Amino acid sequence: MRIALSALAARHPAAAGAAAPALKPVTLAISPGEQVAVIGPSGAGKTTLLHALACALKPAAGRIELDGTDPWSLPVAQLQKLRGRLFLAPQTPPLPPRQRVITAVLAARLPQQSLLASLRSLFYPTHIAEAEAALARFDLAGKLWQRVDRLSGGERQRVGLARALLSSASLWLVDEPLSSLDPSRATQAIETLTRCAQECGATLVTTLHQVDVATRFPRVIGLRDGELQFDLPSREVTRGRLAALYAQHEEELLGAAPQPPDAAPEGAQAPLYCR
Ligand SMILES: Nc1ncnc2c1ncn2[C@@H]1O[C@H](COP(=O)(O)OP(=O)(O)OP(=O)(O)O)[C@@H](O)[C@H]1O
Ligand SMILES: [Mg+2]
Repeated sequence: MRIALSALAARHPAAAGAAAPALKPVTLAISPGEQVAVIGPSGAGKTTLLHALACALKPAAGRIELDGTDPWSLPVAQLQKLRGRLFLAPQTPPLPPRQRVITAVLAARLPQQSLLASLRSLFYPTHIAEAEAALARFDLAGKLWQRVDRLSGGERQRVGLARALLSSASLWLVDEPLSSLDPSRATQAIETLTRCAQECGATLVTTLHQVDVATRFPRVIGLRDGELQFDLPSREVTRGRLAALYAQHEEELLGAAPQPPDAAPEGAQAPLYCR
């Protein structure tokens, strides 16, 4: 999916009237299939940017275009249809505790299903092989029938990522996918996520606190105080730029970061189903 933001600003409905917008006017374009990491200190506006891209937050000013269309100019039914092409993975996936993993993963298909098919799938899950293959990509194949509340925080986070593969979304918006993962799992998860997005032809925008992981993306956006500080190919994201981005927040820049990736054995992957 192609993204174009023109001087887009966003403000949270609950924010005090006098407060500065969480996202100040931002202009940028992202091409179909691009992979972009968004970094910046806590409160910089990273999640707000994702929510604006997900059409979950209406622009306070400026304009957003997704594949050339301003979503906010669409009738409600068409806006809902467009939202079905967007996949937003929140930092804490909203998984009902008593639900089984398979149901949670298959929920990603709901925007494409009729109400009847959705209700039926609650009791008689279909597309089990697809769900299992998606979980296998995140090393969770054995958890298919497990209850969500019996998973660790990191496993829940990876279930949230596996849902992307079951969606038919062409824009994946992923908020801090590594926050509950240990360094080696974090490395595996981000490698899997980027590979799967590429295989599915989806555009990927992900926020990250792990700067060394972010700089493995082809393109890095730096946000601070709701403003775009830089939007660069990762090779141009120098130590100096990072130091300026995280000035007075150096502890976030120096936080624990995942190790470099180990090469995954080629034949070890389950087949990927892209819807
Ligand atoms: N629901 C909300 N209501 C009001 N203000 C909010 C809301 N969510 C975020 N904000 C404010 O918007 C600004 C940007 O928040 P945002 O969550 O986008 O930052 P972030 O970069 O994602 O931070 P973090 O790294 O901590 O997740 C902050 O000043 C925050 O206090
Ligand atoms: Mg955030």
